[in-house]
Amino acid sequence: MAENTEKRARHVAIIMDGNGRWAKRRMLPRAMGHKRGVEALREVVRGCRDLGLECLTLYAFSSENWKREEEEVDDLMNLMRKFIKSDLPEFIANDVKLKIIGDWQGLAPDIVEMLEDALEQTSKGTQTVAVALNYGSQQEITRAATKAAAAGDVTEASIAAHLDTADLPPLDLLIRTSGEVRLSNFLLWQSAYAEMLFVDTLWPDFTVEHLKQALDNFAGRERRFGGR
Ligand code: FPP
Repeated sequence: MAENTEKRARHVAIIMDGNGRWAKRRMLPRAMGHKRGVEALREVVRGCRDLGLECLTLYAFSSENWKREEEEVDDLMNLMRKFIKSDLPEFIANDVKLKIIGDWQGLAPDIVEMLEDALEQTSKGTQTVAVALNYGSQQEITRAATKAAAAGDVTEASIAAHLDTADLPPLDLLIRTSGEVRLSNFLLWQSAYAEMLFVDTLWPDFTVEHLKQALDNFAGRERRFGGR
């Protein structure tokens, strides 16, 4: 996988965690936490334009999130529908190219249709926002390895070329909010040499200022990619 040896991050990924705890602390329903989570997401996408990032990848719904109460899953799906409808024009106006990673064809047919339309309408964008939907990294690697095997070429390069992220820049920095320190089946292959940052801020409280601080932190790190 290509290495970014610059101090400036090209590709940042975020595990947006802590919506539930944000709501609980305020005695609000979990749905309110997710709603505020979408608002944080919108502000971060808006702000990352000025930060010169080529790609921002966001973990919005994992393949394991189906295990949650039906009501919460429905809330998340409805937020997704609303978000695509309300924010697609802004994505287009701001030259954002939407990308979806994960087994998103497995979502409800109306969402799949909305996403296909959004992908098409943003295809000329210059800055990529990749959203992980029905995403699991082990499943992604398994799919990629299966395709590599079918092509008779099981090598690192060919597996990487079949990952959902194949056309994205190498991952530089992975951020997880809310104080949890784990990857939760997100971008396992892509994180091989990514820098990690775990912050205590709950996702609904995360702002562009936090992202700027994260990028400053990244710029101060020495990356050796296994060399010396
Ligand atoms: C983790 O918080 C967050 C999620 C499972 C979903 C993240 C989704 C959003 C920010 C909004 C939906 C996205 C779109 C594209 C509309 P948690 O519920 O696990 O929080 P907790 O650990 O505090 O309970």
